[in-house]
This record gives sequence, structure tokens and C-alpha cells, in this order.
Amino acid sequence: MAKPKVLLTRKWPADAEARAKELFDVTLNDDDHKMSVDELKDAMRNYDAVCPTVSDFVINEEIFNVDDRRCKIVANFGVGYNNIDTEAAKAAGVVVSNTPEVLTDCTADIAMSLLLAVSRRAGEGERLVRDKKWDGWCPTHMLATKVTGKKLGFIGFGRIAQAVAHKAHHGFDMEISFYDPYPPSAEVISKYNATQLDTVEDVLKDADFVTLHCPGGGANTNLMNAERLGMMKNHAFLINTARGDVVDEPALVEALKNGVIAGAGLDVFAKEPSVTDALLDMENVVLLPHLGSATTETRVAMGLRSLGNVQAFFDGKEPGDRVA
Ligand code: DGY
Repeated sequence: MAKPKVLLTRKWPADAEARAKELFDVTLNDDDHKMSVDELKDAMRNYDAVCPTVSDFVINEEIFNVDDRRCKIVANFGVGYNNIDTEAAKAAGVVVSNTPEVLTDCTADIAMSLLLAVSRRAGEGERLVRDKKWDGWCPTHMLATKVTGKKLGFIGFGRIAQAVAHKAHHGFDMEISFYDPYPPSAEVISKYNATQLDTVEDVLKDADFVTLHCPGGGANTNLMNAERLGMMKNHAFLINTARGDVVDEPALVEALKNGVIAGAGLDVFAKEPSVTDALLDMENVVLLPHLGSATTETRVAMGLRSLGNVQAFFDGKEPGDRVA
């Protein structure tokens, strides 16, 4: 029997591409260009499965509804799947899957890196040294904010958030609070001695650090608007490793400029790869280029997980990570 035809929309790590070649009649994106909408439409016509990523154009109704569609499964390379219109997929009868779990630890590590870097002024200090502007140690130089023992509030308390809570609570003795409309079990909550709060606002008012772990899009777009940023403590820091659209970037710039909050650590942006200019000039922000899952181990694992979903589908099984 002919192997399913599979398209990877971006370049994947070598080990994951090698596995794709073993399993399927696969087409790789060797020059790693961002595929146009027309290329994605062609992909729907010419492949049994498409494996897209967060940096592709959104696979929407227009793309799903091409004439003579061949594609039966869109197996995302990523846990967040706001690059796929799942309602349009359902209407078109196309299965959608994602890659949870395998990126949990590395994304949590980036959240902690941002938290530590922004509060301890690591980016600013690094720039000082590289610019040869460091005059030497003195008791008042670059005083920052202590992390250990502080209050860390979570908006969303799923897998990645819990991994951050584990590191923060057990490693840095931080007090954990969270809001999640779908909270985990009491047993999970007790692992971090976490306090469940009733609203996003309750978390914002209480925390020294706020870390975002909710999905992007829909009702969460601009969740962190001027009003909610205003509810944070003046000495508090905002960390975002979720999706850029969850934060109203112009409102964040104003909040940072006016001392409404102390700083921000951002791995994701509303219009990636573009970053609001004003942020680039600020010392009290740490900016990373969407590195959450960017380790070789994790990106290979994400590829294998995406392929596993395609394989299950064509073996007549339910893909383990089906989301639509
Ligand atoms: C994820 O998996 O959601 C990462 O942000 C990359 O898409």
C-alpha cells in the first residue's frame, strides 16, 4: 500500500525529519520559507496530512475548503494551535492534533529564565558588560528584586503552569496562587501548596510576579489590558510564555513607561516576529524570540509526537492528541 503523503510546512530537526522519511512519503521544506496561503491551499489538495506550526498563516475556512481536498489530518507541530481554525476543520471534517507534554519542561524553564532575568536585571547587566560600561562592583550597583519567597500568580494552571509552579515553589520557595476556569484536582493543587483564586483579577492584585499560561485567541485576546495591568502591584513583573495576543502590547508599553508595573519578561508577541519598537528601548523588559520549546530534545520530541498522531490516524486509530 502506498505510504500517506505528508507535508511538513517548516524545516524540522534532522532526527524528526529522518523519522518522517521512514514513515511516510514526506515533503520537507528545505529552505524553511514561510508557506504562502496558496501553498497551504495546494497542500490541502495534494497531501493526506499536513504538519504546520505556529509561524504559518492560520489554516482557516478558505484553506480547508479548497476543491478536491485530499488532506484528512492537520497534525500541528506545537501544543498551542491558534494557527488552525478548529471550527473550520471540524466543519470540513479534517482531524486536528497537537503536541502536548513533550514541551512542558522546556517551556517552563523559559518562563523561569524570564522571571529571574527580568527581576535580577540580567539582560541589562549583560548589555552593560558587552558595551564595556561596567565600572566595577559597588554596594549600590544595579540593585534588583529578590525572587526567593515571593508570590507567583498564574493565569491558567495547566501542565506548563504546573511545571513552573514546581520549579518556583520547590526551587525558589515561592508562594503559588492561580486562576483557571478548569482547575486541576485538589491533589495537584496541594503539590505546590497553591491557592486557587476565583478571578484573574484576584491573582493580579495579590502577586509579585504574574505568569500567563492560558491559550491565545478568542476571549483571551488582550486579556492583559490597561485595566488589568493597572490591578498589578507597582513592584510586580509580568511573564508571558503563552501567546502574544493575550497581552495588549501598547497598554503594556504604557504600564511599563509609567511605573504601573516593574517589568516584563516576554517570549511571545502579538505580531511575531515583529516586536513593538518601544519595548526594544526599555531596560526593564527581557525579550526572547519565542524560545519556549526550543531545545533539540524537545523539538525532536515534538516532531515525533506530531508524526505519531499522523501514524495513528492512518492506522485507523484515534490520534492520541486529537483536539478537533
Ligand atoms: C507551542 O508549542 O505552542 C509553542 O509555542 C510553539 O508553537
